Amino acid sequence: MARFTGKTALITGGASGIGKAAAKLLASEGANVVVGDIQVEAGETVAKEITDAGGNAIFVSLDVTSEDDWNAAIATTVETYGGLTTLVNNAGIGDTLPIEDTPLADWDRVIAVTQTSAFLGMKAASAELQKSGNASVVNISSMYGIVGGLGGPSYAAAKGAVRILTKNTALGWAKKGVRANSVHPGYINTPILGDTDRQYLIDTTPMGRLGEPEEIANVIAFLASDESSFMTGSEVVADGGYTAG
Ligand SMILES: NC(=O)c1ccc[n+]([C@@H]2O[C@H](COP(=O)([O-])OP(=O)(O)OC[C@H]3O[C@@H](n4cnc5c(N)ncnc54)[C@H](O)[C@@H]3O)[C@@H](O)[C@H]2O)c1
Repeated sequence: MARFTGKTALITGGASGIGKAAAKLLASEGANVVVGDIQVEAGETVAKEITDAGGNAIFVSLDVTSEDDWNAAIATTVETYGGLTTLVNNAGIGDTLPIEDTPLADWDRVIAVTQTSAFLGMKAASAELQKSGNASVVNISSMYGIVGGLGGPSYAAAKGAVRILTKNTALGWAKKGVRANSVHPGYINTPILGDTDRQYLIDTTPMGRLGEPEEIANVIAFLASDESSFMTGSEVVADGGYTAG
């Protein structure tokens, strides 16, 4: 049996980068995958690529800052696949300005998309996850949720909050059949990097290269699968050695 046979995973930010790689990997190993994103066309394309390859996937339009969208996405997931076993809170956005130049509206937006989204997602999914009796939540934080990071105060604060929210929820659900763990990627080659100087990121990574989205998808799959059955409240770092320094 494949690792995800009989499991249904909702992956936010599934239209691009790490979320897309995770959606494809979990589907290729038997999961029913629900791709949630605000990028409709790109998200539908990911779902189609999965079904064209013989897997099971649908796209749902999901703005992770909206409680109504979350409730609708969970309802669609249950209608389509009969339940939910796996939640990957992956959607996120960053900021770059120093704290003294960061407008409050920018701070609020990054906190909403990158931090509050994990709260809303786990809240909306909690009943279905607990009903499954063997569920896993994987929250995508960052190495900047462990060390201070460069610029981008709201991103670092949001990622630090996701790390602790994951542990808090893991303890609350420890006897309820739902595990929750966080992933802390280093610099990964995805659109979120924008026009950041790639060479600087490579030079500050001990392994001397960017990570690929598939390398983070592998970590997500491990935490989402029963292979990590005794792990909850853990943080897994995949950063080419950055935080070891
Ligand atoms: N790439 C990196 O270097 C890196 C490092 C550490 C952590 N991360 C984290 O990994 C996660 C995935 O990022 P990525 O690198 O794949 O970037 P990405 O930009 O390729 O993907 C992010 C996805 O989130 C979606 N998204 C944005 N706002 C949304 C909203 N309100 N509702 C729903 N979806 C929304 C985007 O449309 C996009 O598809 C993020 O949480 C990011 O912070 C990335």
